[in-house]
Amino acid sequence: MILITGATGTIGSGIVRQLAAEGVAVRAATRDPERAGFPAGVEVVRVDYRDPATFAAAMTGAEAAFLVGVPGPDGTGTDADLVAAAIEAGVRRVVKLSAVGTGDPRLGVPGSWHVPGEQAVRDSGLEWTILRPNTFASNTFSWIEPLRAGHPVPNLTGVGRQPVVDPRDVAAVAVTALRSPAHAGRILTLTGPELLSGHEQAAVLA
Ligand SMILES: NC(=O)c1ccc[n+]([C@@H]2O[C@H](COP(=O)([O-])OP(=O)(O)OC[C@H]3O[C@@H](n4cnc5c(N)ncnc54)[C@H](OP(=O)(O)O)[C@@H]3O)[C@@H](O)[C@H]2O)c1
Repeated sequence: MILITGATGTIGSGIVRQLAAEGVAVRAATRDPERAGFPAGVEVVRVDYRDPATFAAAMTGAEAAFLVGVPGPDGTGTDADLVAAAIEAGVRRVVKLSAVGTGDPRLGVPGSWHVPGEQAVRDSGLEWTILRPNTFASNTFSWIEPLRAGHPVPNLTGVGRQPVVDPRDVAAVAVTALRSPAHAGRILTLTGPELLSGHEQAAVLA
């Protein structure tokens, strides 16, 4: 049994789909089990990070857990609470979704958001893997509304170029790390195949 937190999110939903397609037992965590739609056979559990009492039932009987904390100043303790619940429940392996450049002071405050969570995972004594993906290709879905409204594509990065990554590739790495010790003890920075500016991404999609 593998527990996926953030199971309705971009990466978590991809992991759930991939594991379910491979016939692996999956437990998907969401704040609202009624609303969420998961593939047939997927077990659903209610988890709310604001209510750590919901963590124990989610972790019980799981061999591995995928941890999606909530980034930002309010979410810094979530991963530590999830890790504590995993240890308590006898979970063997955890995979934490972090972000590229975590801990690099040049990124300012956002670069610090995943630092406590990474530390909690590394100190856990469990088999752990940390994934630090770059910008998801799917972030461009946020362009749809402004484009529909007749506005230009919002360019948040100027002429800066990023190795945009397909979230399905991030999910695929997570699946491997959850199912075997192949990536245990490693921090993996995940990128796409080429550097793209916002202009270049817009050109590709156009
Ligand atoms: N976007 C990027 O380019 C990028 C790049 C690198 C790293 N990241 C990292 O990716 C992570 C976000 O992952 P994502 O994009 O896959 O997620 P997402 O699509 O933003 O979805 C957020 C997920 O978190 C869950 N969630 C939110 N608040 C919760 C709460 N209080 N209790 C329980 N669950 C809660 C939601 O579940 P429910 O609503 O179903 O409860 C949902 O599944 C962040 O840590 C971010 O730093 C993002």
